[in-house]
Amino acid sequence: MVVCILLAAGEGKRFGTKKQFVNLCGKRLLDFSIRTVEEIPDIDKIVIVLPKEDINLEITSKKEFIKIEGGSERQESVFNGLLAIKEAEIVVIHDSARPFATKDMFMEGIKNVKDGWDGSITAYKSVDTVKKVIDNQIMETLNRENIYIVQTPQTFKYEKLLKAHINAKEKDIKGTDDSYLMEVMGYKITVNQGSFLNFKITNPEDILLAQCICNRFSKEDG
Ligand code: CTP
Ligand code: MG
Repeated sequence: MVVCILLAAGEGKRFGTKKQFVNLCGKRLLDFSIRTVEEIPDIDKIVIVLPKEDINLEITSKKEFIKIEGGSERQESVFNGLLAIKEAEIVVIHDSARPFATKDMFMEGIKNVKDGWDGSITAYKSVDTVKKVIDNQIMETLNRENIYIVQTPQTFKYEKLLKAHINAKEKDIKGTDDSYLMEVMGYKITVNQGSFLNFKITNPEDILLAQCICNRFSKEDG
């Protein structure tokens, strides 16, 4: 069984409001991810992680779904999601703050894990040069050929991700993504093709870019 955990329990501190519920081209940001995921035959069930106070939010989907409460950190929200789906073999984690993730990103990740990888994360090769800077001084220039910008969806073997989260809890390891918790376990993670357009809405100005993109997409759709 393949389950997708859609994360929507953040506070949106940098954005200024719970961005997962803001309106973008006539629907809530969260609904973009739901509409994409419900079209993927490989995904059997959706777990929508919401802030405690929004648990009664009205949600519709063509696919089977459940709503659960998130935690105070993203990592805790994922963990709550994992505890709610003991029947899963493969789990896909996606930030609802990324409205433009494509079906291909989900499908390629699921295929990689079915093919034997412990995990597959959506990422694309950096087009910019990345340098390490400490106290305003350049310390290192990283080889761009090996630098990837990491996004979600991220797909994993369920048992291993659960183990990685339990290990992180025990050792107080904090990761900004789930892949990191898997990496410290020595699990083998690969990449599936990401895109600049799959950016995460983080700051208020990001919604302007998102509006441009979705207006353009709706024109293309006729
Ligand atoms: N998220 C979550 N539970 C949390 C924190 C974050 O489910 N306790 C989700 C967010 O809803 C978002 C995704 O994780 O879809 C990525 O997190 P981020 O962009 O950091 O969103 P927020 O935490 O809401 O924003 P901020 O950090 O600015 O408060
Ligand atoms: Mg956050």
